[in-house]
Amino acid sequence: MNLELSEEQLAVRDAAREFAKSELLPGVIDRDETQTFPAEQIKKLGELGFMGMMVDPKYGGSGMDTVSYVLAMEELSKIDASASVCVSVNNSLVCWGIEKFGSEEQRQKYLIPLASGKKIGAFCLSEPEAGSDATSQSTTAIDKGDHYLLNGTKNWITNGGTASYYIVIAQTDVEKGHKGINAFIVEQDWEGFMVGAKENKLGIRGSDTHTIMFQDVKVPKENRIGIDGFGFKFAMKVLSGGRIGIAAQALGIASGAYELALAYSQERKAFGKEISQHQAIAFKLADMATDIEASRLLCLKAAYQKDAGENFDQASAMAKLFASSTAMKHTVEAVQIHGGYGFVKEYHVERLMRDAKITQIYEGTSEVQKIVISRNLLKG
Ligand code: CAA
Repeated sequence: MNLELSEEQLAVRDAAREFAKSELLPGVIDRDETQTFPAEQIKKLGELGFMGMMVDPKYGGSGMDTVSYVLAMEELSKIDASASVCVSVNNSLVCWGIEKFGSEEQRQKYLIPLASGKKIGAFCLSEPEAGSDATSQSTTAIDKGDHYLLNGTKNWITNGGTASYYIVIAQTDVEKGHKGINAFIVEQDWEGFMVGAKENKLGIRGSDTHTIMFQDVKVPKENRIGIDGFGFKFAMKVLSGGRIGIAAQALGIASGAYELALAYSQERKAFGKEISQHQAIAFKLADMATDIEASRLLCLKAAYQKDAGENFDQASAMAKLFASSTAMKHTVEAVQIHGGYGFVKEYHVERLMRDAKITQIYEGTSEVQKIVISRNLLKG
């Protein structure tokens, strides 16, 4: 693993940093308060190539590596994790899934608009009674010859109300367990597709999270991804890549809070000196910086492995586990360093603290990451 970033990677990081400051920062508090999806900002991110970062340019993408994606996710998430989750789901779960495992026809029809940012994608796995236990799918897709008939309900779907294309995981043969699960590309304007109420969330309040319902939706056979029964492995593989994006999001939330706390601690005076000069605060800053650096290295390791074509399941689970716990722990500390100011919205850290929590839940809870990591260890 090369720890030196290339000029191209640094340029991507700087462009994302600049975009976050100039386009995401204005209005981020208001969007959080009013639960407003950053539609204009996501459109601009698409025009700049951030919605299909790793996709081959022949399919409308930017042809960048996963390291660049991690750098961009960190910078966007420092300022606005509601925008960055939309970027992450579109890049990792949807675009990468279709590019890597979809048919050429699916790439032409769906990947090009998704990677070029003209359309937004969503990934529908979780159900009212299937979160961590992803094999317990109640949504069914019954084979009717030239199409499947899709019925069921999906919960907590990121980009639920704004996406045009949805990757939907469904059970096609209960008897076969996880080998009877398939993944399908479903279009939002098909008959029987319904978007439920928007969730009123603790954090990432600007992201667009909905329940999605399918009632006798006819899905053409050619919209199944991969061979029959590939859906569960597809979901696991795609989520493994997605965890790199969410780890980088958690890293960004943590480093955003750290940068604010560092600056504040050098301005605010108490007991005759800047509070950073008190060991109680200085030690907090040292712990934050160390955990953030460790999170960054884990994210980059997973990204390097993915770019090198190696198995990255273990590295991505470790990166997500560590970075999300770093984000939760140190955003709380950032609020503490800010004292009373940390508790009010203008100082941003309370929002980052609320946003941090979801990184320990979505794309696999911390407990799921520990299942993945320990199983890999035990199989040797
Ligand atoms: N790559 C390829 N295949 C894999 C795999 C991987 N990374 N992980 C598992 N598999 C395969 C296994 O090899 C096995 O195949 P065989 O039977 O042929 O050997 C099969 O899949 C079943 O694997 P497990 O027995 O390990 O499955 P399990 O039922 O014990 O589940 C789990 C393991 C890790 C807990 C898994 O269910 C899981 O990851 N759950 C969490 C799901 C999740 O992340 N949900 C998030 C929702 S999406 C989201 O949040 C998006 C958003 O909006 C932000």
